[in-house]
Amino acid sequence: MGRSWCSWNGIMSLFPFYIFLEMAVVMVCAAVNSTEQAKLSAPRNIYMNSTNMKHYLYWDPILNDEGTVNFSVRVQGEYERSYMYKVWTSADGCQSITARWCNVTDEIATNVWYELQVRAELGSQKSDWATIGQPFNRNSSVLTPPAVKFQSSEPPLTLEIEYLGPNFVFIVFYWKKGNEDKVVSKKMYRGATMFHLENVEGGNEYCAQVIAHAVPISRNSSKSTEVCATAKRSGLSPLTTGLISLFGIIVGLALLCVLLRNLVLVMRYSCYPQRKIPDTLKEPFSSQKIMRHHFLEDCEKITSIEPSNQIIYKIIGQDCSAKTQLL
Ligand SMILES: *[C@@H]1O[C@H](CO)[C@@H](O)[C@H](O)[C@H]1NC(C)=O
Ligand SMILES: *[C@@H]1O[C@H](CO)[C@@H](O)[C@H](O)[C@H]1NC(C)=O
Ligand SMILES: *[C@@H]1O[C@H](CO)[C@@H](O)[C@H](O)[C@H]1NC(C)=O
Repeated sequence: MGRSWCSWNGIMSLFPFYIFLEMAVVMVCAAVNSTEQAKLSAPRNIYMNSTNMKHYLYWDPILNDEGTVNFSVRVQGEYERSYMYKVWTSADGCQSITARWCNVTDEIATNVWYELQVRAELGSQKSDWATIGQPFNRNSSVLTPPAVKFQSSEPPLTLEIEYLGPNFVFIVFYWKKGNEDKVVSKKMYRGATMFHLENVEGGNEYCAQVIAHAVPISRNSSKSTEVCATAKRSGLSPLTTGLISLFGIIVGLALLCVLLRNLVLVMRYSCYPQRKIPDTLKEPFSSQKIMRHHFLEDCEKITSIEPSNQIIYKIIGQDCSAKTQLL
């Protein structure tokens, strides 16, 4: 009996030890679990901000005692989600960045719904991917009108419009002050930022407003603020301007004539190098004697000038005889 009591007692005395062991195991497990749960938390509050077709993804910063947390962004369009086995595209320039925003303008290329995700990274630790609250469609981009100003008040009045990128064309509205019912509207070329007002009369005030039209999403901004400028009177009266123009035309015509004449001369010369036919050639029979006389006279003159130099003398002599023979 005593023995069985003893052994029972023995078991009972070991019991606290087991409890202790069990508690220790539980605690170790909990400790292991808690290091797993300390895994980097994913970014929160992810949203898009898109103005004038420039698209930016934002998220809340993450503070961590262990160091600076970096972020990576990836994007998935509707097509990839539906047909391409859910492929994600890493956002260019937004891999392991410290900023809390990413320019995804180049990733959002069509008018479909896009999913965007961000994850936090610290050393080798990586958080789960966190998804944007609402998918993004670029057709929701906020369109603001461009800044507009008149460049100078010299006619023609020139409007200078803020460049909003290659996706925009501007529609200009302008009118003469007091003639608000006659508004002229003109669509500019894509990318153009300078606009010349047509038929501006000096001394009058003109006003203008501009709309930015985003081509890829076929949407308009609201109208810009109204800007006005008074066109300077041109310093010259119409009569003076007319006379100056006439003078310019006459001078131009004269120059043209001279040019044409020279051109004709040059062409004639290159076709008939000896355009001046000597009179003597025109009357071959009567002139032979005269010509011979002419040449002989020349030879005599030359030979008499250089009597000492035999070589030259010879050459000249030959030349003369050749000439006289020819004749
Ligand atoms: C964002 O990217 C677009 C397209 O590449 C570029 O035009 C724009 O200037 C960028 N924005 C900033 C703030 O860098
Ligand atoms: C943008 O496009 C989507 C899908 O085509 C459409 O449901 C939504 O109404 C459009 N939003 C705007 C502001 O045009
Ligand atoms: C944009 O504005 C122009 C000029 O007022 C207009 O002709 C055009 O229909 C507008 N487009 C849209 C999509 O509202």
